[in-house]
Amino acid sequence: MSERTMIEVCGLGKCFTTPVGMINVLSDINLKICGGERVAIVGSSGAGKTTLMHILGGLDHPTSGEVFFEGENLTRFHGSALDAFRNRTIGFVFQFHQLLPEFNALENVMMPLLIGGAKRNKAALLATDILKEVGLGKRLTHKPGALSGGEQQRVAIARALVREPRLLLADEPTGNLDSRTSDDILSLLNHLHQDRGLTMIVVTHNIPLATNLDRVVKIEDGVLVEDVLN
Ligand SMILES: Nc1ncnc2c1ncn2[C@@H]1O[C@H](COP(=O)(O)OP(=O)(O)OP(=O)(O)O)[C@@H](O)[C@H]1O
Ligand SMILES: [Mg+2]
Repeated sequence: MSERTMIEVCGLGKCFTTPVGMINVLSDINLKICGGERVAIVGSSGAGKTTLMHILGGLDHPTSGEVFFEGENLTRFHGSALDAFRNRTIGFVFQFHQLLPEFNALENVMMPLLIGGAKRNKAALLATDILKEVGLGKRLTHKPGALSGGEQQRVAIARALVREPRLLLADEPTGNLDSRTSDDILSLLNHLHQDRGLTMIVVTHNIPLATNLDRVVKIEDGVLVEDVLN
């Protein structure tokens, strides 16, 4: 495993302003993740796991503190530069999939490739391959509404992985999956980790999955506790 720091979070805090006042969700979070590391994030519902993932993926901004990606301050990226960085570097599995309902499974998975400038034929081949890897070779033309919850989750995982990102941010990727499919997804991720050194940050309530990764951190009362299960 490369020892190079990929992500460094320094003094990160996040508040939300609501009609009934400010909510302080994250306080003084400090975290360092090396290239090739597999980190699980656990914590109770509402602890701030999704909020942290969105900030790590450049989808939201912290109220205080900073996030560095290989030494570059993420908060300095804006607009199309941020979009290009995300598309090139990060695969994101959202907690609630966020598949495009009017497009079928294949088209959903092709989307990041097309946005990245790939030709349609090549995008279709790569998307088909990864959908087969997640066990959906026979569901290519189904729209999300005609897929089960677990199948939608697997399409979202395929979409996150199709551009061979260096960093996978996955928010409860196995939340809707039975234990066998969940094990299959874990083996796929571990295979990608071994093959390409994929760095992974995975939010999960699935303790066997968490303990299978290199490190488990917990968010509790807005602060981060390191190595909770080790
Ligand atoms: N845009 C927002 N405006 C106001 N409050 C928010 C906003 N987004 C999240 N919150 C609040 O921040 C807290 C953390 O939310 P978050 O989605 O990060 O939790 P979580 O740890 O992912 O929970 P779960 O396990 O249920 O997915 C929650 O109390 C939530 O209500
Ligand atoms: Mg969440």
